[in-house]
Amino acid sequence: MSKVVMMNHPLIQHKLTLIRDKNTGSKDFRQLVKEVSMLMGYEVTRDLALEEVEIETPVTKTKSKVISGKKLGIVPILRAGLGMVDGILELVPAAKVGHVGLYRDPETLKPVEYYSKFPADIEDREFIVVDPMLATGGSAVAAIDVLKKQGAKYIKLVNLVACPEGIEEVERCHPDVDIYVASIDEKLNDHGYIVPGLGDAGDRLYGTK
Ligand code: PRP
Ligand code: URA
Repeated sequence: MSKVVMMNHPLIQHKLTLIRDKNTGSKDFRQLVKEVSMLMGYEVTRDLALEEVEIETPVTKTKSKVISGKKLGIVPILRAGLGMVDGILELVPAAKVGHVGLYRDPETLKPVEYYSKFPADIEDREFIVVDPMLATGGSAVAAIDVLKKQGAKYIKLVNLVACPEGIEEVERCHPDVDIYVASIDEKLNDHGYIVPGLGDAGDRLYGTK
């Protein structure tokens, strides 16, 4: 069963409040999403494997730790997921970035795939799928489906705002994928928007309607 990790760090919660506020414009929204993503990335990377290497400080030889094990891949779900990439890349600049293009059909709320491209060594990488919103869960499930079909075996999902319906859907379809969120909101409304949510993440990031 998926592990669901709620990130209660005060900085994450404070910035999320600013992100939710309808008076926050695109420039600040983008900056805040980047900052929260970096803070969430710190927690998501907590279980990375370490190994000891020998180095020499100006004083003496010593053993010290470096990250080892699987290489990382970050996969934003286009478009809104793009807003979360740079914050995480600042922590792990050597990570590769794959992309999955999906939009939600406004009538059916089902995801429609229009693009995907991943790093070559997909089977050996650990992937962090990022999207600010986990609503019905359709987009996240479809993105993870695409990644798994290409051979990915190690996948985590990171969302700023989720709701019970979306979490249940990911748990049902991909119980091996752990989910990291800054909030689990109350519900979905009749239009598939998260309540209270933050509105349309893509439109708010990029100033479109
Ligand atoms: C939003 C959001 C997620 C999806 C979540 O994208 O960024 O990808 O909706 O909804 P779901 O859990 O019900 O699938 P949208 O389809 O609005 O596309 P955009 O990012 O291009 O604006
Ligand atoms: N997509 C968004 O951008 N916002 C929601 O509340 C739900 C889906």
